[in-house]
Amino acid sequence: MRAVWGKHFPYEIKKLHAQYGEVVRIAPNELSFAAPVAWDDIYSNKDGANPQAFKKCELWHGNLEPGPSSVFTTIDFKAHGRIRRFMDPAFSEKAVLQQEPIIQNYVNMFLNKLQDRSSASGKTTVNVVQWFNFVLFDIIGDLCFGESFGCLEKCEYEPWMDQMAASIKLNYLSINIRHFPIINSMLKPLAGFLVPPEIMKQHMDYRDRATAKLNRRLKSTVDRHDVVSQILKSEDHTEGLTPEEVLLNSMQFINAASETTATALTGIVNHLLQNPEALSKLEDEVRQFSSLSELTLSALKQLPYVNATLKEALRMCNPIPIGNMRISPPEGGIVAGNFVPGNTIVTVLPVALSFDPKYFHEPEAWRPERWLPDAETNPQSPYYNDYRKAIRGFGWGPYVCIGEPLGWAMMRLVLAKLIFKYDLRKSNSQNSSIVWDEQDVFAIIIKHRLDVDLVERTG
Ligand code: HEM
Repeated sequence: MRAVWGKHFPYEIKKLHAQYGEVVRIAPNELSFAAPVAWDDIYSNKDGANPQAFKKCELWHGNLEPGPSSVFTTIDFKAHGRIRRFMDPAFSEKAVLQQEPIIQNYVNMFLNKLQDRSSASGKTTVNVVQWFNFVLFDIIGDLCFGESFGCLEKCEYEPWMDQMAASIKLNYLSINIRHFPIINSMLKPLAGFLVPPEIMKQHMDYRDRATAKLNRRLKSTVDRHDVVSQILKSEDHTEGLTPEEVLLNSMQFINAASETTATALTGIVNHLLQNPEALSKLEDEVRQFSSLSELTLSALKQLPYVNATLKEALRMCNPIPIGNMRISPPEGGIVAGNFVPGNTIVTVLPVALSFDPKYFHEPEAWRPERWLPDAETNPQSPYYNDYRKAIRGFGWGPYVCIGEPLGWAMMRLVLAKLIFKYDLRKSNSQNSSIVWDEQDVFAIIIKHRLDVDLVERTG
C-alpha cells in the first residue's frame, strides 16, 4: 500500500523482484511474478500449467457502482464471453481495415492542424502528449459514437478529459482500499461525499454528451464502417447487447484506447529524441514513400523498423505497468512451478521482465533492433537470445486487449505520418524530455508533458 500511495508501485515491486527473485509476496494474499512462463500459467486457457486461465478478481475488477457491467468489470467467463462475442468483430483486423478511412481522416487532420501552427516559419513546438491525445480521442470517439469529440478542430480537450487523470487516480485508490475490508465498508456510504463534486459533474456531463452522440448515431441511416455498426448487429440476437451495455462499454473504450496508445507514442518520441541513430533509421524507412497518401495501414504493417519501434515501446514504456491482476481458483493452481493456494491474487509484473538482463541484452537501452527478423535468426546478433515472449503489452488469454489491432493501427499511422512530414528535434523547453520512471502510476501512467520542436521537411 505504501508503494501504491507513493505512486510508483511497479518500480517498487520491481526492486523487490531484483532482491528476492521471481516470486514476491506483496500482500498477505497477493503474489507478484517475474517469470515469463507465468503468462501462460496465469492467463492462458490452453498453454499453461492449469486447466483454465485464472479469473479477474472482484477486488480489482468488481464494479465500483451498481448497474450493468462492462467488458472490464465482468468477471464470470461465460458472461464476459458473451460481451466479447458481440464486440470482438468490431475490433478485428478486418474491421480496422474497413475503418481505415475514418482513422486516416483524423491523422490527416492532426497533420493539418500542426501545419497551421508551423506554416509561417516551417517550425513549431508542441506538447506531443496533448496532440496525441487530441487525435486519439477524436478517432476512438468517432468509431464508438459516430462523431468525434472535436479536439483537433478546437485544439483543446473537452472539460471531462481534463478530469480524466483525476478520476483514474480516484478509481485506482478506491480499488486499493478494498484491501482493507473494514475501512472499505466504513468509507463506502461516504463515497458520494468523498468524490470531488467537480469530477462528479464532469463525469455526468460526459455521460450525457456521450448518450446524445450515441443516440444520434443509432438513429442515423448512414451506412458507415465503425464500431457501432458492428455492435448493432447483435441487436437481432436474443443474447445481444442492450443499449445501456453499448453505452457503458463505449464510454470505457475511450479511456482504454486513448491513454494507452498515447503513452506508447509518447514513450517512442521521448526515446527517439535521445537516440538519433534510431530516429534516423525510422526516417529512412518511412521516407522511402513518395507521398503521405502511400502510408496506408497495409503498407505500414510491412515496415520492419516501424514495427520494431512500437514493440520496443511496449517493452520499455508499457502503458499498463502494474500488470493484470487475477485470482487463483479455490483449489489453487501452479504458477512458474510453485503451488499457489486458492483465492490468491496473482500478477505478472511487466516491468520486472522488461528490464531483466536474463531476458534482454542491454535491457535499459532503447534498441528496436532486438525485434527485427535478423535478431531472431542470426546467432551473431547481440539480441539473438532475447526472450521476446516475455513481453505481452496487450495482455494474454481470454481477457486479452480487445483493441490490439486498432492500437497497432493507430500507433503505426500517427507515428509514421508524423515522421514523414516533420523532423523531430529536442526543444529548449524545460519539458524537453521525460524521465519515465518519475511519472506517477495509478494503474496507468500519468504522463508528464513533452515539448518537441517539429520542423517541416523541405524537398
Ligand atoms: C497501445 C495500446 C494498448 C495497450 C498497450 C493496451 C493494453 C491492454 C491490456 C494489457 C489489457 C488486458 C488487461 C487485463 O488482462 O486485465 C487490455 C484490455 C483491454 N483493452 Fe487495451 N490496450 C491498448 C489499446 C486499446 C484500444 C485501442 C482499445 C479499444 C477500444 C482497447 C480496449 C481494451 C479493452 C476493452 C480491454 C478489456 C478486454 C477484456 O477484459 O476482455 N485497448 N488492454
